[in-house]
Amino acid sequence: MNYIKGTTLLAGLIGNPVKHSKSPQMHNTAFEALGLDYVYLAFEIPQGNLKKAVEAMKTLNAIGFNVTMPFKTEIIKYLDDISEEARIMGSVNTVKNENGRLIGYNTDGSGFIKSLDEKGVNYVEEKVVILGAGGAARAIATQLAYDGAAEVVLFNRTLGKAEEIAENINASIPTCRCRGLEMDESLLKEEIRDAAILVNCTSVGMKPNIDKSIIPSPEVLHKDLFVADIVYEPRKTKLLEFAERAGCRYMNGLMMVIWQGALAFNIWTQKDMPVDLIKKAVFEE
Ligand code: ATR
Repeated sequence: MNYIKGTTLLAGLIGNPVKHSKSPQMHNTAFEALGLDYVYLAFEIPQGNLKKAVEAMKTLNAIGFNVTMPFKTEIIKYLDDISEEARIMGSVNTVKNENGRLIGYNTDGSGFIKSLDEKGVNYVEEKVVILGAGGAARAIATQLAYDGAAEVVLFNRTLGKAEEIAENINASIPTCRCRGLEMDESLLKEEIRDAAILVNCTSVGMKPNIDKSIIPSPEVLHKDLFVADIVYEPRKTKLLEFAERAGCRYMNGLMMVIWQGALAFNIWTQKDMPVDLIKKAVFEE
């Protein structure tokens, strides 16, 4: 951080908790590599202080900032404008300061799409099965629908949450048919049969519970299915082991995390984040 000087402008993260976030390392490594005069800091904001935090970022003339839990929805009321995808999701993870006007975006879903694109996986006019109905599932399901998936099926332990996301997508994106279903092994197998992509958007399988998977066995999968897990610790989850055994192509969640950052970086700087460098320097890949 030897480059910080009187002209250096602020970017950052507001959320709670934030100490575990890799975003400061990602963005600062990229700023330094590209010789950009910015610095990225993480701010842990107590509940109830979001408005003040947003005003502070504006007052300090930050170029923009990321937003994480628990503020991704609440932030919207403090913004001047918002992208269509973020509006449909009801969730913002990136804010750009355009001469004092704050514009909201969501790069969680588009980061996932970029990682699919990188693997050459097609989702346009395809069916996608999603496990989970939390924030990550909402962003990914909505972006896939927005970008042309024909059918999205969400399975969740709590059915109401999956149904709510499905209703929202059906009401906003008429080109996609979306359904919410309760977790059930035979139903899951049936829905996966004609799907092109399966995405785990739950935390099941993440360290330290590495022996767990929502999918009970490789028999539920088929070899033409692309399997994505948003978990990247460990790099190969039990689900991805099953995918390998079933002969599927697959990916973990690492590139989604990097691409959501890279897309935010591009929104603020109009420059491409050096993703290969970030992979090595920040994630030791
Ligand atoms: P995120 O914002 O990262 O998506 P979240 O909103 O807490 O996190 O969502 C977590 C998802 O993982 C939810 O779909 C949750 O299911 P419920 O809605 O029923 O809670 C799912 N999940 C977490 N632990 C699970 C488990 N042991 N079995 C099944 N689903 C689980």
